[in-house]
Amino acid sequence: MKFTLITLFPDEIKSSITFGVLGRAIKNNIIEIDYVSLRDFSDNEYQSIDDKPYGGGPGMLIQAKPLIKAINKIRAERHNQIPVIFLTPQGKLFEQKIAEDYSQLNELIIVSGRYEGFDERVYDLVENSTEVSIGNYVISGGEVATAVIIDAITRLLPNALGDINSAKQDSFTDGLLDYPHYTRPEEIQGLKVPKVLLSGNHKAINEWRIKQSIGKTYEKRPDLIEKRNLTTKEKKILDEYLEDNKQ
Ligand code: 6GU
Repeated sequence: MKFTLITLFPDEIKSSITFGVLGRAIKNNIIEIDYVSLRDFSDNEYQSIDDKPYGGGPGMLIQAKPLIKAINKIRAERHNQIPVIFLTPQGKLFEQKIAEDYSQLNELIIVSGRYEGFDERVYDLVENSTEVSIGNYVISGGEVATAVIIDAITRLLPNALGDINSAKQDSFTDGLLDYPHYTRPEEIQGLKVPKVLLSGNHKAINEWRIKQSIGKTYEKRPDLIEKRNLTTKEKKILDEYLEDNKQ
């Protein structure tokens, strides 16, 4: 999958995607990253691409024209319908399901915002574009958000992870949180690893994990349970979990 990143600070993105799973995915040609500097599309000798907001107020805005020029050039060189993501706190919330949808694409253009954001008209003028936010908080720029989005998508691509089952069992994949994990030692300050995990009984372990996944999601993220609608069988498992954990 090819990502083309339009940004003012390519080094900031590079520094967070050259290691680990992403670094390996780049080396193994599972993903390819192109950096496009927005400044190259400035229409003035100072290479500026931002300006003051009409109506006053703090900060600067990224102008529509250089951005549109950059996107048009990228699309003209490859194909015209490459989807564009504008990163902004006003965007649609980025969730696992959206990462899954994007992971089906061959190409994606991601635009990192800075300053107070973009001239509002880019959203109308750039076809096949979406505003995306990574959460209900504000960070200083879209570069970190870009790295988050590339990471979430890349994990889902074939052969990006060492173990093909890793992504399948991630939290959120099934609309539920992952079950709890334990490693050695068997006991820490009186807290023991659940017996079933030491039993070698894979069917029982699997059932325990499903029950924990449903139960923990219910306790920690009731919003996810509400959104997902448990099946009759899952509701029964949740009742068992609640019964097991009754004080
Ligand atoms: Cl995409 N950008 C910025 N600056 N802040 C954010 C965000 C993006 N998503 C959540 N907060």
